Amino acid sequence: MAIGIILGSGLGEFAEKVEAEKIINYSEIDSGLRSTVEGHQGRLIYGSLENKQVAVMQGRLHYYEGYSTRQLVKPIEYMKDELGVDTLIITNASGGINESFKAGDLMLINDQITSFVPSPLIGVDLTDKTGSRFHDMTYVYDRDIMSLAHRIADDLKIDLKDGVYLQTTGPQYETPAEIRMFRTLGADAVGMSTAVEALHAHALGIRVCGISCITNMAAGINSSKLSHKEVQETADRVGENFRNLVSHIVSLL
Ligand code: HPA
Repeated sequence: MAIGIILGSGLGEFAEKVEAEKIINYSEIDSGLRSTVEGHQGRLIYGSLENKQVAVMQGRLHYYEGYSTRQLVKPIEYMKDELGVDTLIITNASGGINESFKAGDLMLINDQITSFVPSPLIGVDLTDKTGSRFHDMTYVYDRDIMSLAHRIADDLKIDLKDGVYLQTTGPQYETPAEIRMFRTLGADAVGMSTAVEALHAHALGIRVCGISCITNMAAGINSSKLSHKEVQETADRVGENFRNLVSHIVSLL
């Protein structure tokens, strides 16, 4: 049994806390994999953290880098099959669509919209592994871990929001018109990762927890333009709170 953790923008430092036993480059998992985004390394660190066995993905793979969604879930399959991961904590940076949010908030993901990116399950039949080709997605995010995360956030005096995450292909940010559409569709936050990973992990029977750092308000909500610099600055600013929340969740899982 082990806990998988996918580190998003600003959380990379988290990997330094792991007492590493084994480091696996993504290219060892699949020869087509590497990670190209600035600030993201491409490796899996297996070891211990908070007295728990963990596998930390330092640097994630994105659809906009040119990988198929099928390819970018390979490390998740590896974590389950080779490292015994049965719980996965996924983190990311996102734009806030819900106008009650502000930049710097943390949002626990309670549901998701993957309809704008291809399913990683297309062309793959998991019937042998999971008993079905058609997977239920009613509870992608584990309810017990959600309650635990809220209890911990209360103890740490972190105002943890709740909401629906929508994944786009990226790499461009959205237009204000798209953000209005996404709000109508029920999204509270938008980003370029996570939902595909959560979908796949859930289909494999892994318990999933998702936490998003709202690094900026989405396009058109205020008059400013969006930039990767702002995303990184906010992620760095709240990084300590974010890391603290995740390590407490790991210790109490
Ligand atoms: N849109 C999409 N992805 C993001 C954003 C955003 O506003 N902020 C951080 N990642």
